[in-house]
Amino acid sequence: MIVAVIGSGGREHAICQSLYKSKKTKKIYCFPGNAGTSKLAENINIDIDNFEILRNFVLHNKIELVIVGPEKQLVDGIVDFFEKHKIKVFGPNKIASQLEGSKIFTKNLCEKYKIPTASFGIFKNIDDAEKFIKKKKFPIVVKADGLASGKGVYICENINEASAAIKDIFDGKFGEAKNILIEEFLKGEEMSYFIISDGNTIKKFQTAQDHKRVLEGDLGKNTGGMGAYSPSRLINDELDNKILNKIIKPTIKGLNDIRSDYKGFLYVGLMIIENEPYLIEYNVRMGDPECQTILPKLKTDFLDIVIACCTNSLKNISIEWHKEKSLCIVLCSKGYPDKYKNNVLINNINKIVLSENEFIFHGGTSLYKKKVYSNGGRVLSFVCLSNNFKESKDKILDLINSINWSNGFYRKDIGYKVIDQ
Ligand code: AMP
Ligand code: GLY
Repeated sequence: MIVAVIGSGGREHAICQSLYKSKKTKKIYCFPGNAGTSKLAENINIDIDNFEILRNFVLHNKIELVIVGPEKQLVDGIVDFFEKHKIKVFGPNKIASQLEGSKIFTKNLCEKYKIPTASFGIFKNIDDAEKFIKKKKFPIVVKADGLASGKGVYICENINEASAAIKDIFDGKFGEAKNILIEEFLKGEEMSYFIISDGNTIKKFQTAQDHKRVLEGDLGKNTGGMGAYSPSRLINDELDNKILNKIIKPTIKGLNDIRSDYKGFLYVGLMIIENEPYLIEYNVRMGDPECQTILPKLKTDFLDIVIACCTNSLKNISIEWHKEKSLCIVLCSKGYPDKYKNNVLINNINKIVLSENEFIFHGGTSLYKKKVYSNGGRVLSFVCLSNNFKESKDKILDLINSINWSNGFYRKDIGYKVIDQ
């Protein structure tokens, strides 16, 4: 099968690698890809926001299946567009993608279907939002409604911080704001829960814990993710059933009631409080770096699973996993998530020898005259599967230390809750 992957991060490199392993894969294209994907796929430098150009390329090159990595194109309706042109595409449609595209859409769904989540208010202007926060206990969480690359969420410790957040959002820091969401702060431990669906059948796709903050000890600014491990230490059968029955099934019912279904990966961001799950957010895609952490554990042919999702036959597939634990550390450009330099040579990356359960997935990298250069904030994801998280981490640290790249930094404490120091 000729397959294409949309995206250029570590997530998409991991997806390309899983596709590459399948005997059914004849050729992979990556739009636009990175230095890592160029070893497995043909990278095509194309505007992924221009669906017409993408469609023409797909038809001309007889691509039989398109896998969409990032959220933006899903929220913009790429699945509806491709399906209209009879192109097989893996991901949720535009209505279902509102689960990530609009936090207010999701909150209203939670209210209607009694899905456990933080209590909230939605406000149309600064005055009403200000009046509301005067009556509230702190901390409080202020959120922009739409996509904001993880930046539109403010945890506010006092009224001044909350006022500043409200002003930022209504001033248009994350695009035009018609509404704002203000939530109760939930105190617990976070867990990411993944499922895959063909629109009828839901299958679990592992749990993970990521580290979103830039500094050790989970401090500092939010990032796309500095590292992750899988499985989460919190998961157990009882919690698993609660997540499926109290959160995921009512969400799918809510989508069915507005004549949509859910096809693709669904990333359920949860706060767990005393073994009870509360929904914090949905993402309509795999996480990055959770994808790099989870996919190497997959035993079943990934392409078979994706095809089953696109042909409504997921119920016939049993998804099998390797039993090892997986840990991922992301090597970033110094300065990330603020300003950082691009085009810094990563000298010896091609000489690094990986053992069977070790992986390096490229994110922000580019290839120039056969040499690898940094080209983004999150540059390389190092992943290792082993019998315990400590062993995985030690092996990753050895790998990172063997990279000769002066412009990198990483968190040395990834997985601290599951590794005895
Ligand atoms: P989100 O983009 O909605 O996932 O928010 C980013 C991060 O903010 C989450 O991963 C949580 O760490 C935190 N967060 C968001 N909403 C809440 C909440 N209601 N209570 C506590 N923490 C939250
Ligand atoms: N690692 C968080 C995300 O992919 O949204």
